[in-house]
Amino acid sequence: MDSVSTYRACRVAIIGSGSVGSTLAQRIAEKNLADVLLLDVVEGRPQGLALDLLEASGLVGHHRQIVGTNDYAETADSDIVVITAGLPRKPGMSRDDLLQVNGKIVLDVVRQAIAHSPQARFIVVTNPLDVMVYLAWKATGLPSQQVMGMAGVLDSARFQTFIAMALKVPPQDVSAMVLGGHGDLMVPLPQYSTVCGIPVTELLDQATIDRLCDRTRNGGAEIVGLLQKGGAYSAPSAAIYKMVEAILLNQSRILPASAYLRGQYGLEDLYLGVPCRLGWTGIEEILELRLTDAEQALLQDSGDFVKVRTEQVLKQML
Ligand code: LAC
Repeated sequence: MDSVSTYRACRVAIIGSGSVGSTLAQRIAEKNLADVLLLDVVEGRPQGLALDLLEASGLVGHHRQIVGTNDYAETADSDIVVITAGLPRKPGMSRDDLLQVNGKIVLDVVRQAIAHSPQARFIVVTNPLDVMVYLAWKATGLPSQQVMGMAGVLDSARFQTFIAMALKVPPQDVSAMVLGGHGDLMVPLPQYSTVCGIPVTELLDQATIDRLCDRTRNGGAEIVGLLQKGGAYSAPSAAIYKMVEAILLNQSRILPASAYLRGQYGLEDLYLGVPCRLGWTGIEEILELRLTDAEQALLQDSGDFVKVRTEQVLKQML
C-alpha cells in the first residue's frame, strides 16, 4: 500500500466557482487529470458543487479528490492555479467595462493564492483578459513563463467551429489560429488556419472568410447576447482544460495563449495572445509566425489597445 499512500496527484486550484470554474472542475475530474480545489467567496457554493461532483464519481468512473472551500489554505501546494473570479459581462458591455472591478478582484485573489502555492503556474481567465494577466503576473512576482492567460485557445476554437460549419467538415479536421488581445481587435489568421493542411484561403472566398473572422471576434458577445444572463462556459472551460493538460502532462503543445512579450512581434512589456509551447514549467517558448504587413498592423493595433489599458490599471492599482 506504500505506493498508494505516498502517491501525490497533481493539484489544480480553481478560484471562482461560477459556470466556467465549476465546469472546468468537472472536466478535470472526469478525465482523472488532477485533484481539484474549488474556491469561492460565497459560502456553501464551492462545497455544494464539489459534493455534487463527488457524488457523480462512481457513475462516471473517476477517482479524483474534489474539495470545495472558502479558505485559501486548502489550496496549498497547487501545481496550477486558475483564476476565473470576477464579474461577467452583461449584454451590451465590452470586456473592458470590467477593468476596475475585476482588477481589484484579481489582485486580491492572486495575492492570497500565491501565498499558499508559491511554485504554481497561473492561468488567468478573468476579463479584460490580457490586462488581468499582467496584473496577476505583477501580483505573483513569478517569472513570466509561469503566468499566462486563456483566450487564444478559445478564440481559435470558435474560428475552427465557424470554418467547419462553412465547409461542412468535422471541426477536428480544422486547425485554426487566432492571435492578439482577447477583445474586438483579436487577429484571426486565415493563412495559418487549415483543413487537413490546406489553408482556408484556398477553400473559401474572401467575403466568407471576413464574415467568419467577424463572428469569431464577436464570439463571446454573441453568446452573452443569446443567454442574456452570464456568458459562455462550455468552450471556455474546454479551452482552459487543454492548457491545464498540456502543462500537467508536459505535452509541449503549441497553443495560443496570452504571454508576456519582450520584443516578439515588435511588441514589448505587455501580455498578448501569441502561439506558445506549453509544458510543465509553463510557457516554454513563444513562437514568432511570419505575418503579412496587414496582419502585423492588426496585431500592433490590438497590442496598443491592451497596453494603454494595462498602463492605466497599473497606475491606479499598483
Ligand atoms: C468569452 C469570455 C470567456 O469569450 O471572454 O466567452
